[in-house]
Amino acid sequence: MKQTRRKFLLQSALGISAMPLVVANLRASAAVSSGLAEVFKDDFHLGTAISDATLRSGDSSLLNLIAREFNTITAENAMKWESLQPSENQFSWHLADDFVKFGRKNKMLTIGHTLVWHSQTPEYVFKNKASLASRGILLRRMQNHIGTVIDRYKDSIAIWDVVNEAIEQNKWRRSKWLEIIGEEYFAKAFAFARETDPTAHLIYNDYNMHNPDKQEFIIAQVNKCKKMGIRVDGVGMECHATLDEGPPIVEIETAIVNFAKAGLRVHISELDVDVLPSAWDYQGAEIDVNYEYSEKINPYKNALPSAVSARLAERYRELFELFIKHRDKIARISFWGTTDDESWKNDWPMAGRTNYPLLFDRSRSPKAPYFAIKNLK
Ligand code: G3I
Repeated sequence: MKQTRRKFLLQSALGISAMPLVVANLRASAAVSSGLAEVFKDDFHLGTAISDATLRSGDSSLLNLIAREFNTITAENAMKWESLQPSENQFSWHLADDFVKFGRKNKMLTIGHTLVWHSQTPEYVFKNKASLASRGILLRRMQNHIGTVIDRYKDSIAIWDVVNEAIEQNKWRRSKWLEIIGEEYFAKAFAFARETDPTAHLIYNDYNMHNPDKQEFIIAQVNKCKKMGIRVDGVGMECHATLDEGPPIVEIETAIVNFAKAGLRVHISELDVDVLPSAWDYQGAEIDVNYEYSEKINPYKNALPSAVSARLAERYRELFELFIKHRDKIARISFWGTTDDESWKNDWPMAGRTNYPLLFDRSRSPKAPYFAIKNLK
């Protein structure tokens, strides 16, 4: 039964047509949400990221809102290497178990984020005593981590971000993975995941996927894997958008079409829209200089002006208009958080800003963007 339920979630999300009768019956019994996911149920799955804080506190009002509005969940941090295997062969499952249990209880599509990444991976992974680990040791560690994690959750998690953010425009990101193993680490990660769960949906996840060079480089790696008999099923386009600096809708559309043409399912995996002025030019060396500038790059400390809220709603509307247009290529859309207060965008690239990138405000009420996209259907 477990495998059947998992298969149903996978097939309903990914549009695999041949659905055995027993799986179709499960569809009838799946949780019917009364929120936004229900509005888009014929287009794509709709999800959000759940923070460690929410998992630790068991915040029932937020978790109930998530279960009502969404049918897909991603752990913001709880399933990263530093969380699951903080020291070698010492696994810490409790937060991830709570996350997976919540998904099963609410019959939600649960995303495994993420297995191989240069960030949030403990230093020991790349070390052998005081020196760098050998290629063989690092490959064994990668295989052990991927195998242990997928094996534990394969009855609940059918979709994995196997490799995250390994590419910068038209070349590999310089990381310890690349330095020690070489570029084959990409294919090896997918091979280890596939051998652990042959039916899983395996994804490469990254940001700035509207960049044509990046698209070309990614598709080339996927095709190289294919030639080796290693299947990559989809890409996660993170879509950390901004209000004004882009990316332009037409560039996002081109990326969706190009990835689909390459035979990949498209996942919009970490959607949010930053409403604040770009902070990058203000990273001065002097604290007081930064302090002085923070007023300019933190203009909405107390509230979001209605004019900006309207622009945010319009940005989300045009994004969802595009996603609906290409619903046949898109398996799911996940927001990177539910309420504005929990967004990573309040502290990036510098801490202490007040941002408004998501669908629900700090009192957990739906904002203008929520209604703007709901009214598209
Ligand atoms: O767990 C520690 C905690 O023990 C400590 O007290 C606290 C204060 O220092 O930090 C906690 O770790 C934080 C971690 O989130 C867990 O909350 C890190 O400092 C913080 O840097 C980390 O940020 C996460 C970030 O990934 C790390 O790169 C964000 O929450 C998370 O939203 C963000 O998500 C990434 C995706 O995984 C991949 N795509 C980009 C996206 C945004 O960066």
